[in-house]
Amino acid sequence: MGKQIKILDSTPSTQIVAQELAEQGAPEGTLVIAEEQTSGRGRMGRPFYSPSGKGIWMSLVLKPQTSLQFTPQLTLLAAVALCRSLQRVVPISIGIKWPNDLLVGTRKICGILLESSTEDERVRYAIAGIGISANLDVEDYPEYLKDIATSLKIESGAKVDRTAIITEFLAEFETLYQLYHEQGFAPIRILWEALSISLHRPITIHTLQGKVTGIAEELDDSGALWITDEFGEKRKIFSGDVEINR
Ligand code: BTN
Repeated sequence: MGKQIKILDSTPSTQIVAQELAEQGAPEGTLVIAEEQTSGRGRMGRPFYSPSGKGIWMSLVLKPQTSLQFTPQLTLLAAVALCRSLQRVVPISIGIKWPNDLLVGTRKICGILLESSTEDERVRYAIAGIGISANLDVEDYPEYLKDIATSLKIESGAKVDRTAIITEFLAEFETLYQLYHEQGFAPIRILWEALSISLHRPITIHTLQGKVTGIAEELDDSGALWITDEFGEKRKIFSGDVEINR
């Protein structure tokens, strides 16, 4: 991972650059990093705030030998790799909110967006886009993010070394990716569950079909979350935004 790295000052989105490289035949593990994104994108078509010089905005080209139905597993694997590597470099406690937001307390510190190109249900390539709020200060955040986002610097009280974080992440991702190819999703799922802050908690999930309130019970092998809803019914949720109820 990261044997070929392209570093840009400013780009609309590293996802677009990584996708172009993948289409041109770039090898698995190619990494695109930008100091700033002018149209950073998040999950569910949302914009992703990516100001200059203080974050880690990067996209990793993957060529997993899997079919489309397994791509949620890759997102969860990326979340585990990111959480474990960050905690090795920065002495703060970080948890994963299903499916793939990293939080400190109730505030988001990283987001992951996995996009894939497929042919006959096979994945041609996938791009794992990762946004880490590394050295942002409170005053860097626009009003709409002030209460819901935070950074590694704000939480640890010290500027973090972005290169050390990227290096550690690539090594951890490579280890887990190899484990995944050798042993499947089961060991990744165990690691994810240990880092999860959504499991066994009362939650509300906002899905495209509406909202579901209940207790998050478990993650299954497809990466879906099972919850017992307020009427005692078991529900399988494939995607959505989790709100943890206090
Ligand atoms: C989310 O939290 O909704 C996912 C955010 C993913 C952001 C990263 S930053 C690098 C890459 N380029 C993008 O435009 N998005 C991803």
